[in-house]
Amino acid sequence: MTWKAAGSLDGGPAIDLGCGSGAQTLALVRLGSPAVIAVDTSRRLLDELVTYAQDSAVVRAVHGDLRTVLPEAAEPGMVAAVVCMGDTLPHLPAKADVPVLLGHISRALASGGHLVVTYRDLTVELRGTDRFIPVIVHDLLHTRTNGSWQQQTSSYSKLRIASSWLVEQCRAAGLDVRHDAADARGMRICTP
Ligand SMILES: C[S@@+](CC[C@H](N)C(=O)[O-])C[C@H]1O[C@@H](n2cnc3c(N)ncnc32)[C@H](O)[C@@H]1O
Repeated sequence: MTWKAAGSLDGGPAIDLGCGSGAQTLALVRLGSPAVIAVDTSRRLLDELVTYAQDSAVVRAVHGDLRTVLPEAAEPGMVAAVVCMGDTLPHLPAKADVPVLLGHISRALASGGHLVVTYRDLTVELRGTDRFIPVIVHDLLHTRTNGSWQQQTSSYSKLRIASSWLVEQCRAAGLDVRHDAADARGMRICTP
């Protein structure tokens, strides 16, 4: 990340939406953010993050829903950066949640503040092994206890978010998109 060159993280808090175990939270700390609010619905992942960030006084782990947390967690116009990365956005229950969230982000960001969204666009034509990326995701977990294997299964659906649609929604929320591209592994990076 090269935000120091593009602008400053010194001004206000940064917010990591769907932080998981904190890969981006810790990057924001290293970039010099004076406060990082890390939000996730998973207590287990937040506990992991707290362990990794125990040397940092600037991280606040918040157990909450990224769809509603911003108006509660931050003063309007005071946030230096919001990240929602690692394919978190398609985890939202409904596509209609996306424009609402972008509205919250737009109100929270300071003038010149940063937003980074990374996600998979599952609407594009898929080729090769990518064809098998499902939109209903099934997790199969095998655990071995006392010599016998046990299988746990779970599944969840993912939103199909077209990159052109997301850019449109950002603009409608007053966020001027400066960069919208896919990386080598097909992850879209959208940075208003
Ligand atoms: C694919 S993981 C990405 C985690 C992290 N950003 C990373 O890149 O390693 C998605 C995360 O979003 C969280 N999540 C999903 N829906 C959420 C919601 N409505 N509010 C807060 N967190 C949510 C999940 O618990 C999970 O930790």
